[in-house]
Amino acid sequence: MVEAGPPGSLAGGKPAKGKILEFTALKGGGEFEPRLLTGNAEFDRACGGGLVPGSALLIGGDPGVGKSTLLLQIAAGLAKSGARTAYISGEEATAQIRLRAQRLGLSESPVALAAATALRDILSTLKADRPDAVIIDSIQTLWSDALPAAPGTVTQVRACSQELIRFAKGSGSVVMLVGHVTKDGQIAGPRVVEHMVDAVLYFESEQGRAFRLLRAVKNRFGAAHEIGVFEMTGAGLREVANPSELFLSEPGEPVPGAAVFAGIEGTRPVLVEIQALVSPSTLAAPRRAVVGWDSARLSMLLAVLDARCGLDFGRHDVFLNVAGGLRIAEPAADLAAAAALCSSLFDRALPKTTVVFGEVALSGAVRPVNQAEARLKEAQKLGFSGALAPAAGRSDALTIVNAETLADLIAWVRAQG
Ligand code: TYD
Ligand code: MG
Repeated sequence: MVEAGPPGSLAGGKPAKGKILEFTALKGGGEFEPRLLTGNAEFDRACGGGLVPGSALLIGGDPGVGKSTLLLQIAAGLAKSGARTAYISGEEATAQIRLRAQRLGLSESPVALAAATALRDILSTLKADRPDAVIIDSIQTLWSDALPAAPGTVTQVRACSQELIRFAKGSGSVVMLVGHVTKDGQIAGPRVVEHMVDAVLYFESEQGRAFRLLRAVKNRFGAAHEIGVFEMTGAGLREVANPSELFLSEPGEPVPGAAVFAGIEGTRPVLVEIQALVSPSTLAAPRRAVVGWDSARLSMLLAVLDARCGLDFGRHDVFLNVAGGLRIAEPAADLAAAAALCSSLFDRALPKTTVVFGEVALSGAVRPVNQAEARLKEAQKLGFSGALAPAAGRSDALTIVNAETLADLIAWVRAQG
């Protein structure tokens, strides 16, 4: 099937002459409208400090992770703060949503609710009603009668998103599109929407855990990698204001192979335990397995430890795990990963009161990382008393061991009990 081009495209006859654009300056252009706040601090943060009027968001996630629950709570929060909010469900009947609202204690909230799937009806309603914010749950259930394709197909998802995004830009309403994704990305639907919207948030959970991460993977109006943390309870999603508590191990005796990394997720410092297991291998090609970190990064780190420090991981299986289901993308985690690896290799437990951070260069040097102060401050706030960090780190409250090279790290690990 050939897709119809935009109006005035080359299809048939001579190209029409375009009209002359009027250029304008970068500054000026009137007042910016303030962001809409949902009153849910975790959600607002993940969005970059509230919702920008006229923007379109995609909130993706596995079926059953809690998207509808989250967005009903968000709708209620917006309505409470005075924004006119509509929740349009294509998946559930209004009775079902009312039941959920009851369970969440939100029945009295002035959210405008509708069950609909026909794009034409939805757009007519929105254009007449002009809500400040509208939630479409989900984009896969909508269908445009201009297309012969079935709902949920890439063609439909793309066309319906395009229309709704155009409505957002034209009216100033915030449009939030819910999309189902499977972990392996089987359903292509929401993926095609990613580049069309202003922000993409993924709502994720680890198997068998109650907490949920709302992760900004793209945001034109805020930091990507920002996370919001929630816990699913019997009465909806609870905000977790201090996520470090989730990503640190239980109190108790320290064990070899664990190091606490002082990380930054988006704009927020988060402490998380990195766990390594290094054990002798009988395999010709020993195993390397990583959860929550980049496996290429692990290979690099092992190669540097081998080449610069003479540590032989070549006859060992190496497993690395980031606690709590967090995924770390920062190079600042290198030193903490190295600490966990050496701790396991030497069978020396690291003190549970010390955080570690720093980027490792191929030369074996430890490089300073951004926001060292914020990392140290968070560690201090959570009762840590020491840090192993690159030379630039300073703190009055913590005892800092400066690591300039991996050799400093190794000496420090060997000196532990
Ligand atoms: P739901 O929001 O319907 O998920 P999604 O829209 O992503 O498919 O919620 C899914 C699960 O959450 C469901 O198994 C029930 C559970 N849940 C709770 O544990 N507590 C609650 O208060 C609610 C409303 C749901
Ligand atoms: Mg749902």
